[in-house]
Amino acid sequence: MEYRQTDAPPSYDSVMNQNTSPPSYPSLQVLSATQIQPYYIPQPTPQIPAPCVVETISTQRRHVLSYKSKRCCYGGSGGSAFVVVLLIIAVGLGVHYGSSLWTLSGKDKETDICTPSSVNCDGKRDCSRGSDESRCVRFGTANELQVMTSKAGSFLPVCAQGWSKSIADQTCQQLGFRQSYAVDVLQSSSSAFQSLNSRFSNTIQGSVNISSSCPLQQTVSLWCCDCGRPPVSTRIIGGAVAAEGQWPWQASLHFRGYHTCGGTLVAPDFIITAAHCFPQEISDYLLPSNWQVYIGMVSQLKLPSSYNVKKITIHENYDPDTKNNDIALLILNRPVSNIQPACLPVFGQTFSPGSKCWTTGFGVTSKGSDSGSIFLMEVAVDLIDLAVCNKPTVYNGLITETMQCAGDLMGGKDSCQGDSGGPLVCKADDRWYLTGVTSWGDGCGKKNHPGVYSNVGRLLTWIHGKMQQERP
Ligand code: ARG
Repeated sequence: MEYRQTDAPPSYDSVMNQNTSPPSYPSLQVLSATQIQPYYIPQPTPQIPAPCVVETISTQRRHVLSYKSKRCCYGGSGGSAFVVVLLIIAVGLGVHYGSSLWTLSGKDKETDICTPSSVNCDGKRDCSRGSDESRCVRFGTANELQVMTSKAGSFLPVCAQGWSKSIADQTCQQLGFRQSYAVDVLQSSSSAFQSLNSRFSNTIQGSVNISSSCPLQQTVSLWCCDCGRPPVSTRIIGGAVAAEGQWPWQASLHFRGYHTCGGTLVAPDFIITAAHCFPQEISDYLLPSNWQVYIGMVSQLKLPSSYNVKKITIHENYDPDTKNNDIALLILNRPVSNIQPACLPVFGQTFSPGSKCWTTGFGVTSKGSDSGSIFLMEVAVDLIDLAVCNKPTVYNGLITETMQCAGDLMGGKDSCQGDSGGPLVCKADDRWYLTGVTSWGDGCGKKNHPGVYSNVGRLLTWIHGKMQQERP
């Protein structure tokens, strides 16, 4: 994290030199070059502009609160011959792994094999990994539950009539949460709806039918988790070291004992981070057992008990050259309780350019330094419009729709090496929403070179889809 206008926080080295003992965050200095583990993933600036993925939107108004569960989310020719050989291997692998849907668990790539008559969102699982039924639920404005069915062919709100805590729990479980947190009733202006069948069958999309109206036009707003409201909200303006409890969802991902990347808790069992934290050419990084996750702490010298990683899922269209789709999902070995996750944005939620947002991390605090910060650092950043960020003087077309620039074009306020994978959060309705995942930048804090984050709003379908497929 780079703060040109504020006091520089103590660097890892300066604190280490004061005879503090580093139990789990060893001093890089006492190690020889060959012993040093990289604790951040080097990221060259992308050179090739990349294509993108897009999603769209809807509107609604919020009404009465109906219940709240007690606990949070439990909650030359030689050269060309070589190329030909590579191509043959690649084609072979392509045939072998068939589908574009692959997931990494250790070194394994998993395929999703679908029946020829596979139908999406009909409530019947036709694919071995369930991809046909994993993109049928989303949340609209005010957390309006929207369900896609094969019959409707589009996302429609669900009538509140007949809704129960048990259906709410089952729907949230389908989405990868442990249970539901709250249900609201919305006054809808939609012209088509889904109404609940008399009994719930496995998935919400399998349990509804198209309907032209709802009694009293009331639809369901569903919360699967209390989120985005930290226990501590005092803020040091322009400050640097974060107070304990301010950013509870911040995760520190340790690779073989070293802080390597940040992450964000978004549900009791799930961490969102960056795909580039797991370089695919180094298989050790893909092995879940090499990683340890610490959540909610503000000092690398006071580590809470760790979580293990059950599975690492990297975006199948992540492009290491352009950094397009730089996102990954970690499933923890056990649910996190009593730590508030950050909220995932709802479908169509936008944070306007100029919104005040914050990014946090344990990354380096001075340019060129090769060690991270002991303390969790925070910095306020402005969201920067895509067109502005793509200007010739800024990133000249390197920014795709799945990226979000944030910082200050004047320089100075930025994340940096070691912050990768960590959160960019923006506040709306008194809750902090995960808007970006720290991804890359040309240097740190440089004029006209703001930080680049993965655009969570544009990657929501992927996130919800994977959370469904990997649900605990
Ligand atoms: N790629 C870096 C990492 O692995 C994050 C870089 C962010 N850079 C920036 N200027 N915001 O930690």
